[in-house]
Amino acid sequence: KRFIWLDCDPGHDDATAIMLALHCPNITLLGISTTHGNTDSQSTAINAARCLYAFGAPSGLRVYPGASKPLLLPPRYDAEIHGEDGLGGVEGLPDASDPALPTWQGGAGHKVCMISSGPMTNVALFVSIYPDLVDAIEEFVFMGGGVGMGNRSPVAEWNILCDPHAAQIVLNTLVKKTMIPLNVTHTAIVTKTIRASLLDPSYNGNPDNPPEAVSNLRHTLSTLLTFFADAYKSTFGFNDGPPLHDAVTILYISQPELFNCTRFRVDVELIGEHTVGETVVDIWHYKPCDLTWGPKGRNCLVAQSVNVNGLFKLLLEC
Ligand code: BDR
Ligand code: CA
Repeated sequence: KRFIWLDCDPGHDDATAIMLALHCPNITLLGISTTHGNTDSQSTAINAARCLYAFGAPSGLRVYPGASKPLLLPPRYDAEIHGEDGLGGVEGLPDASDPALPTWQGGAGHKVCMISSGPMTNVALFVSIYPDLVDAIEEFVFMGGGVGMGNRSPVAEWNILCDPHAAQIVLNTLVKKTMIPLNVTHTAIVTKTIRASLLDPSYNGNPDNPPEAVSNLRHTLSTLLTFFADAYKSTFGFNDGPPLHDAVTILYISQPELFNCTRFRVDVELIGEHTVGETVVDIWHYKPCDLTWGPKGRNCLVAQSVNVNGLFKLLLEC
């Protein structure tokens, strides 16, 4: 079993990452912290709690609201992709003011895999304020960046672009890191066929689940993926379906053997006129580097490919 902490900004694909983190058999989700990102930080915290509740989290699993703005830049939100409240169009979630929403989680004493599926402000603050706790992180895995590509500027991916300074702080932290870049998440397309199989009542990954809960969850996920698919079609022209970016981080924790990764030096461009937020991945090893995970080293494993069938199999099972 791997123990994970998820820092996120739900967000449709973050919501699917929460669902996988809750139900993946070899993962224990210890808690969730939330950040500004897809929408404001108050909404992402409430959205995380709504997801935990609707996805059947054990009582006691808590959401910790985190940073409301980036370290230096003004916040930016992405209503075009995720709706005004971050989970636009999703049916079957409890109301934001429902008193039953979860608030507390215990469970310390484990080495933790820390996952980030949003801007890295919280993680940068964590490693800066509590450097002595960095040792408790077994591995840090983040969805973000791209190798020579962006999605919210020609070269910058959204999570990095929102708080590039935070990402650079984290990349220079002495801890094992794995980056799940756009190049990989853009292969994890939730096609119409996969969306249809979600609604297929003959498929029940875990026969212990009560059929009613399963069909409610299916309906919620189906509305979520439909909104996300429409947003990706109208904004980016993705006709086949949306990329399930954030869920790929959970698959990596659960089944790393499904990935090919290579270790590189990765930095974030902080001052370029056209390139702020770009992840500069030194694929030819130009910079002299040692094999440490910090400022002088090849600091990051970068995922190169994933077996996406594994992702959708896991999604349906969960
Ligand atoms: C990332 O940005 C957000 O829109 C998604 O939730 C994902 O974390 C993809 O660039
Ligand atoms: Ca996200």
